[in-house]
Amino acid sequence: MCPTDAPHLFNSSSLRPLIIAVDGPAASGKGTLSRKLASRYGLAYLDTGSLYRAVAHALLKAGQKISDEAAAAKAAQALDLDAIDQNAIRTADIGAAASIVAAMAPVRSALTQLQHKFTQQPQGAVLDGRDIGTVICPHAPVKFFVTASAEIRARRRFLELQQTDPQADEARVLADILARDTRDASRERSPLVMASDAHLLDTTDLDIEAALKAAVAIVDQTLQKGAEIQHKG
Ligand code: CDP
Repeated sequence: MCPTDAPHLFNSSSLRPLIIAVDGPAASGKGTLSRKLASRYGLAYLDTGSLYRAVAHALLKAGQKISDEAAAAKAAQALDLDAIDQNAIRTADIGAAASIVAAMAPVRSALTQLQHKFTQQPQGAVLDGRDIGTVICPHAPVKFFVTASAEIRARRRFLELQQTDPQADEARVLADILARDTRDASRERSPLVMASDAHLLDTTDLDIEAALKAAVAIVDQTLQKGAEIQHKG
């Protein structure tokens, strides 16, 4: 359970712990935005996609099939947040494999426990992923759904991948992103969907500073409202 599932905690004297839930499709810029929000409000940050990527990586490294649900569940249960090889999991192939293990119920159950444990930070946390505002922290006081056109997302991811892989191909990146979005949005368990109370941030025409400015205005407004409720109470 997330700390904000007990709403009275959010209305405590310092308005902490504060949970900010950030969801969105592949390469939408939610990671960069979340990191900046965490640093601005002094919150811990968890890139939940890295957990699914790490499970996929563990399987492939051990020579197991990505469709092997029992092996994937075992890898998810054994996952150590501090031991994730951040460089090895950032490839397009691991991204695609991650979205296959992410559809498996036992994998999601094991990783849900890890995520809930992470939210128990004294100040609170920013988590980004696909189901943070809908399933992991449904009562988070601030939720964002970050998106952008598929072409812009592919361009941004291509420029990122190109730094480590000169063979990266933009058309293939776009095809991979679209396939992954379709798989993530159509799976039965915890599909990618915008929470009804999330703020939509379309970054197609926004750079990161403009997106951050818009998000900060919303977080500040929420904190202000919380302070007013507390004052009245
Ligand atoms: O960075 P990018 O947006 O490309 O993807 P990611 O956040 O690293 O997530 C990789 C994959 O993990 C996604 O395509 C989803 O299938 C899965 N995922 C998920 O199912 N639930 C989450 N909370 C986070 C990621």
